[in-house]
Amino acid sequence: MSENGKEPLIEVRDIKVYFYLDEGTVRAVEGVTFDIDRGKTLGVVGESGCGKSVTSQAIMQIVPPPGKIVEGEIVYHRYKDDGSVERIEITKLDPRGPEIRSIRGNEIAKIFQEPMTSLSPVHTMGNQIMEAIILHQRVSKAEAREKAIEMLDHVGLPQPQQRIDYYAHQLSGGMRQRAMIAMALSCNPSLLIADEPTTALDVTTEAQILELMKGLQEELGMAIMFITHNLGVIAEMADNVVVMYLGKEVELASVDDTFYNPFHPYTRDLLRSIPRIGRKSSERLHVIAGSVPDPYNIPKGCPYHPRCPDYMPGRCDADREIPFYEVGPEHWARCLLYEQER
Ligand SMILES: Nc1ncnc2c1ncn2[C@@H]1O[C@H](COP(=O)(O)OP(=O)(O)O)[C@@H](O)[C@H]1O
Ligand SMILES: [Mg+2]
Repeated sequence: MSENGKEPLIEVRDIKVYFYLDEGTVRAVEGVTFDIDRGKTLGVVGESGCGKSVTSQAIMQIVPPPGKIVEGEIVYHRYKDDGSVERIEITKLDPRGPEIRSIRGNEIAKIFQEPMTSLSPVHTMGNQIMEAIILHQRVSKAEAREKAIEMLDHVGLPQPQQRIDYYAHQLSGGMRQRAMIAMALSCNPSLLIADEPTTALDVTTEAQILELMKGLQEELGMAIMFITHNLGVIAEMADNVVVMYLGKEVELASVDDTFYNPFHPYTRDLLRSIPRIGRKSSERLHVIAGSVPDPYNIPKGCPYHPRCPDYMPGRCDADREIPFYEVGPEHWARCLLYEQER
């Protein structure tokens, strides 16, 4: 445990991930830093294309070519039964080597927005879950099947004895998402990466899946990296929040500070653009000016300056790195409004 009583599971330090395409270089992730603490949920929020998914790919070392982690460090802390902690530098591991493969799907598991892309259409749910179990645990086929049924039951799939032999397309969206959660959790991961896991679902099913995930987290003690563009979901799920914009981390804070004391104009604009219960119908929802620029032409200085209500000409658009200012306890914002006079 560190001096502030926290138990870091993942430390991400200033990572940069670029895609080298014929059309140019896409700076998908440009210097992102955060911790995910043991058993806690980190929410990652921002509009589409801001680098949320690629950040999670970096943690698992599955950034697809022509993408590369070009800078930074990612450390995974393995808490062992004897009380010791092993420090593994993920960024130093061979992406195809045995160490990361034993972590992936085992200690760090992932669920996606659209289960159909990760569930095979030609294998039954059961066979896929059993394969995941057998790959990481020394159990017989019969034992793996028992365990798969148990897991499906655990995630609230009705009639798991029968449904284990179904194909993904025979299940509804919500049931598929439950099956994918069962598959991810069958190895008891210490970190679950959930990349927009409820975005494709209707609100009632979404609420059920979020409840399920919270319950399983409490029971199994895993940490969750919850990626979403939906601040309402963040409020429901997260302990701490990273706000991203065009590859940059613009704010990092507790969930309460993010909602009640946001510092970055982008965070404030995002908050004003979500519907709120109790908002007067005459009050119009705020719409953020302009649109997200294309990834080859990221604005200089603060990438948000062309849309920002607090834009300071000559400062925010100057070609320089804007520091991540510590604006409060455990609270950072990358904005020149908080540059101290020196
Ligand atoms: N496989 C890829 N090849 C090329 N560019 C990619 C690839 N994956 C992501 N990108 C680019 O990286 C940026 C960040 O993408 P992503 O992390 O998927 O955004 P988000 O998950 O926040 O919507 C985008 O500009 C996207 O076009
Ligand atoms: Mg994404």
